[in-house]
Amino acid sequence: MAYTFVAERPEHAAGIERVLDRAFGPGRFAKTSERVRERGAVLEPSLTRLALNDAGEVVGVCRIWRVEAGAPLLFLGPLAVDPSEQSAGLGLSLVRESVAACRASGGSGIIVVGAERFFAPVGFAIVPPGRVTLPGPVDPARLLWLELRPGGLDKVQGEVGAVRGV
Ligand SMILES: CC(C)(COP(=O)(O)OP(=O)(O)OC[C@H]1O[C@@H](n2cnc3c(N)ncnc32)[C@H](O)[C@@H]1OP(=O)(O)O)[C@@H](O)C(=O)NCCC(=O)NCCS
Repeated sequence: MAYTFVAERPEHAAGIERVLDRAFGPGRFAKTSERVRERGAVLEPSLTRLALNDAGEVVGVCRIWRVEAGAPLLFLGPLAVDPSEQSAGLGLSLVRESVAACRASGGSGIIVVGAERFFAPVGFAIVPPGRVTLPGPVDPARLLWLELRPGGLDKVQGEVGAVRGV
């Protein structure tokens, strides 16, 4: 299957919802990452990447949000691949595409809640203890970040929240 990677546009909304519902199921809105998104994170459609199949249907999504934790930061998630397309490398490709867009845009760093084993090949590492908290419980072993340019994470400290002035 060949996929096309594109930035998010309004016409993709229904397709994105469908993939998120199918991939996450009913627990979708219970995650701590969802609390971050509710609390003033700003969606960046131009940095978000979607995978479209040959028919132009959304089969994967990797959303990117602007947040702050002492300094500006990007927040990755939700990441989801339609169950019919999982385990073929698409999830990791979506992360790579989004990270490349974030880096090209001049972003300083990206934070995500996820499995280190999955995100490590793209360069994500566990956030050192005491640096970052989220507005809800999170397993510290699943709190990961990626520096996009030298020193980009140096000033990141505290709870992840809304971008000031928004
Ligand atoms: C997680 C998800 C996006 C991965 O997409 P995918 O297209 O199946 O992933 P890939 O094929 O690129 O997988 C790459 C590698 O990650 C591994 N992997 C996949 N999901 C994983 C997970 N939850 N934890 C650890 N490793 C995982 C795969 O086994 C694979 O490794 P391998 O090649 O050594 O076997 C997809 O399974 C999904 O939508 N799951 C439900 C939603 C979810 O849990 N999202 C993640 C929130 S951070």
